[in-house]
Amino acid sequence: MNIIGCTLMHKTTPVAEIFLKDATCMIEKIGEIFSVEHLPVGVRIKNGIVNRGELNAWWRNRAMPMERFRIRDLLYEMNVRTTRLFLPESFGLCLSDAYWIKPMDSDLVWSKINFYDNAFSEDMGRLLFGEMPPSLADSLCSPDVTTEGCLKKRWEIIDGKRYLIKAGEPPYHQQPFNEVIASMIMERLGIAHIPYTLVWRNDEPYSACEDFVTPENELVTAFHVMKIRPKPNHHNDYMHYVTLCKENGLSDIEHALDEMLVLDYLVANEDRHFNNFGILRNPDTLKWTSAAPIYDSGSSLGYCNFAENLFNNLICKPFKKTFLEQLKLVTSFDWVEFEKLSGVEKDICDFLCDEKTILFIDSKRRAAIADLVHSRITWLEKFALGKQRGC
Ligand SMILES: Nc1ncnc2c1ncn2[C@@H]1O[C@H](COP(=O)(O)OP(=O)(O)OP(=O)(O)O)[C@@H](O)[C@H]1O
Ligand SMILES: [Mg+2]
Repeated sequence: MNIIGCTLMHKTTPVAEIFLKDATCMIEKIGEIFSVEHLPVGVRIKNGIVNRGELNAWWRNRAMPMERFRIRDLLYEMNVRTTRLFLPESFGLCLSDAYWIKPMDSDLVWSKINFYDNAFSEDMGRLLFGEMPPSLADSLCSPDVTTEGCLKKRWEIIDGKRYLIKAGEPPYHQQPFNEVIASMIMERLGIAHIPYTLVWRNDEPYSACEDFVTPENELVTAFHVMKIRPKPNHHNDYMHYVTLCKENGLSDIEHALDEMLVLDYLVANEDRHFNNFGILRNPDTLKWTSAAPIYDSGSSLGYCNFAENLFNNLICKPFKKTFLEQLKLVTSFDWVEFEKLSGVEKDICDFLCDEKTILFIDSKRRAAIADLVHSRITWLEKFALGKQRGC
């Protein structure tokens, strides 16, 4: 068994010495701690000892999941056991935060290797999209190695900007269309979001969104925020998250959550788990700057249901099990200008009318999606009015 000695880095700040087992790429030992403050959010330290299990869980989660589309076939072809083994190839760098690992004998510096300012290999993206055999891959130094999520996806550099290109799931491939529809709604309501557009690759629909993270503003997902300390018994998840955000300076977090819960109701989002929202913080000062703009709203609008039953068995996340219960957490609807949503169903239908689109979303499904949005807007307006009157 070989051990790889590295320094866990946060941008230019050394955080800790870590020793990785080369066969598993798990952290075997933690050496000297250089900066407790810069440990990843949610990794705790007790009596000067970093919780290795928590650091390993954080590190393991950096690897693209084994549930990623096509990954098991690809690993088999490459004779690689787990996606974690790709992490050292990209020095653990990603396009969502500023952590990386620096091999102990190297003189690598952040400015020369980070993916925000430097080009990266797109070979992993090509492999994931089945565009290249593994034997032709030159380098796997890519943010694809460290991007979460199960859907088929890859990062591309287009006109110098980094875009996440993400597919939908068969048979309807509805998620990319939904991302655009959710963007339309958020645009109208003035909700802070990352805009998604529709792009086509080999006649398949994908969503494209620009990287909203920069070297000055990194994403920390709610999943990690919630791990800062155990939730007290008298708090629910919502209260725990709000408390932790407020303690870290985000005094207006309820409004950001109101926006997310309203959007999620309107599009019947079924996948707002704790890694699908979060906060932004400055990796140099560690100051929390704001809630992250809303991203990943595609698993919504009955994306995997039959058109006849678009509303059936909708799942609600992350705070409550039903949309009604979750809406009760919204602190104020005063900011929702319902008149701005007028005509959005027509925009949705126009958007879904494209000749390529109708091969995936037929007219029946299109009408069902527009109806779903319309009925949820109407219902929400009544609910908000009732809340105003104190009903
Ligand atoms: N525009 C972006 N800028 C920076 N990071 C992003 C962006 N979009 C997504 N990410 C990061 O990439 C991860 C995966 O993206 P996304 O959540 O869209 O994929 P997914 O496959 O839909 O995920 P899920 O498993 O939730 O279905 C996100 O959790 C987030 O950390
Ligand atoms: Mg996601």
